[in-house]
Amino acid sequence: MGRSAGFILWLTGLSGAGKSTLSRALRAHLTSSMPVEVLDGDEVRTWLSRGLGFTREDREENVRRIGHVARLLAKHGVGVIAAAISPYASSRAEVRRLAEEAGIPFVEILVQAPLDVLIARDVKGLYKKALAGELAHFTGVSDPYEVPDAPDVTVRSDVDTVEAGLRRVLETLRRRGLLDAAAAA
Ligand code: ADX
Repeated sequence: MGRSAGFILWLTGLSGAGKSTLSRALRAHLTSSMPVEVLDGDEVRTWLSRGLGFTREDREENVRRIGHVARLLAKHGVGVIAAAISPYASSRAEVRRLAEEAGIPFVEILVQAPLDVLIARDVKGLYKKALAGELAHFTGVSDPYEVPDAPDVTVRSDVDTVEAGLRRVLETLRRRGLLDAAAAA
């Protein structure tokens, strides 16, 4: 098979749920068979969405920008992995619609762990602050997260290993014909 066509893997889920970890594993796996680019919320907010905050409007704008760059890249054969909380179903539906209208396969991946696990992990110390009332509008604590109704893949980071999550995503890509034989191994 020739060069793989591009696609967008859209990872949604709460802060600390494991989106970045799964992104890195996906990148490491896919990179031998196609160009891969990761658009990660934290990095995007430094370079592309600097100045945007966490109101609904700003989050929607952030997601719109990520979706746009993802489409530009995917159009040229890049396997794009976007990882952002993207808490609003309407925003996720919009980026999916725009991708599909452009003929770009879009795979929604819910990365999930129970809130008490995320609070216990609290890698960045943000849940502690949010629970103490020092951080307003923190997703999952004092701001909404609309859980996807029908994600293409669900990965539970409290139950699945990173390897198992990776396999689950790859199975879906294979089923949809988005992986060439080499990458499917
Ligand atoms: S999104 O809602 O616009 O999709 P995004 O994924 O880019 O969010 O950024 C989330 C990251 O910003 C979190 O992982 C966390 O490190 C940081 N952050 C800072 N303030 C907040 C907040 N109020 N809610 C959620 N995340 C926040």
